[in-house]
Amino acid sequence: MNKLKQAQVFTPPWATNQMIDMLDQKLLSDHETFFFEPTCGDGAMLVVIVDRIFNELLKKYGDKTQALADTLFKFYAIELDAELVPKARKRIYDWAVSKIERELSELEMYLIARSLQQSIENRDFFEAMNHPIDAPSGAKAISRKLRNKTRRL
Ligand SMILES: C[S@@+](CC[C@H](N)C(=O)[O-])C[C@H]1O[C@@H](n2cnc3c(N)ncnc32)[C@H](O)[C@@H]1O
Repeated sequence: MNKLKQAQVFTPPWATNQMIDMLDQKLLSDHETFFFEPTCGDGAMLVVIVDRIFNELLKKYGDKTQALADTLFKFYAIELDAELVPKARKRIYDWAVSKIERELSELEMYLIARSLQQSIENRDFFEAMNHPIDAPSGAKAISRKLRNKTRRL
């Protein structure tokens, strides 16, 4: 495992940004679209993804708190390595706090941390895809969309 960890390479922000640039930008603020990171590592890609979603939602709402609240419910991430999961959660937590330029209340801090416990999970991607029913709302929405797509085929 140590060797494996030393060999891990996380995606640099410029590469993630290029990938997101290829999307229809409306998807970032579309309330029916969820983003799924199946192997999130320490959150290197995820933090860029949430920042891009946040920026689009901010343009839409003109309100940072509302944009942040919606951003936190627009993604679901999975990581197999239990040691990386708290790092990914902390990364997104710090990012979220940096967006609100005031002291957060204890309740706000709790709600952000609690939502990240549910949206960044220590799971095996393959196991998660086999059990979409017990997955949190983001994954359920993904499986709903996939089901609708396969029905249309
Ligand atoms: C190269 S890192 C990439 C992390 C991140 N997606 C990025 O691009 O920066 C690959 C990650 O996938 C995780 N991984 C490997 N197999 C997995 C699985 N079956 N389910 C969830 N995560 C997995 C590894 O633990 C590792 O953290």
